[in-house]
Amino acid sequence: MNYILAPSILSADFMNLEKEIKAVESAGAQYLHFDVMDGMFVRNISFGIPVLKCIKGKTNLKLDVHLMIVDPARYFEKFKEAGAEILTVHVEAMKNPKEDLKRIKELGMIPSITLSPDTPAQDIFPYLEDVKQVLVMTVQPGEGAQSYIEKCTDKIKAIRAEIVKRGLDVDVEVDGGINEETITTARDAGANVFVMGSSIFNGAPYESVKKYTEILNK
Ligand code: DX5
Ligand code: ZN
Repeated sequence: MNYILAPSILSADFMNLEKEIKAVESAGAQYLHFDVMDGMFVRNISFGIPVLKCIKGKTNLKLDVHLMIVDPARYFEKFKEAGAEILTVHVEAMKNPKEDLKRIKELGMIPSITLSPDTPAQDIFPYLEDVKQVLVMTVQPGEGAQSYIEKCTDKIKAIRAEIVKRGLDVDVEVDGGINEETITTARDAGANVFVMGSSIFNGAPYESVKKYTEILNK
C-alpha cells in the first residue's frame, strides 16, 4: 500500500511558510493539506485563495484543499485558478453533491468528499462513484490540535469496506488528531492518506514526516 502524508499548514508558522513547506516536501510528504474555513460552516476563519495562489508553482506537493465553507460550488473556479489539485467538499455543505462533484472533475481537479464525525457513513455512499477520495473527519471540523474521536474508526472501516465491495479505486483520507498512536489505528481501519497538522508543525517538520513515514510502513 502506498501511504501518503498530507501535512496541514493550519498549524504551520506563517512567517516561515516557504521554509515549512520545503521541509515537509524534502522529507517525503506527497500532499499539502490546505484548510479553508469561512466562519459560517465552521466557527473559525482561516485563509483562502490569495494564500493558495502564493503556494501554487512553488512546490511539487499535491495541493489538497479542504473547503469548510457553505455552498462551496460558488468558489470552484477560483480554487482551480489558485492551484487546487484535489478539492474536498463537505456533504453537509453542498446543495447538489452529484452536480458539484461532476463540476470539480470537469474543471480538472480531483473530486473528494468529506463528512463530519456525526454524519453517518451511509450519507456519502451515493457519491462513491463520483470521487477519487473520501476524507473521514476524525475531529469536529474547525480547528487543529483536537483529539481523535474514537467512534470514527468504525466509520473508516465501513467506508473502506463499501469501496472494496464496489470494486472502486478510492483513497480514504483521515483528518484530525492523527498522532503516533492514532495513525496506525486509522491505517489498520483502511485509511491510506493521513492529514497531520499539529503533530508535524508543532515540532520539527522534517523529522516528523520521516518518523511518521517509518511508522506507517512498519
Ligand atoms: C480541522 C482541519 C485539520 C487540522 C488537523 O478542521 O481540517 O486539517 O489542521 O489538525 P491536527 O492534525 O492538529 O488535528
Ligand atoms: Zn482538513
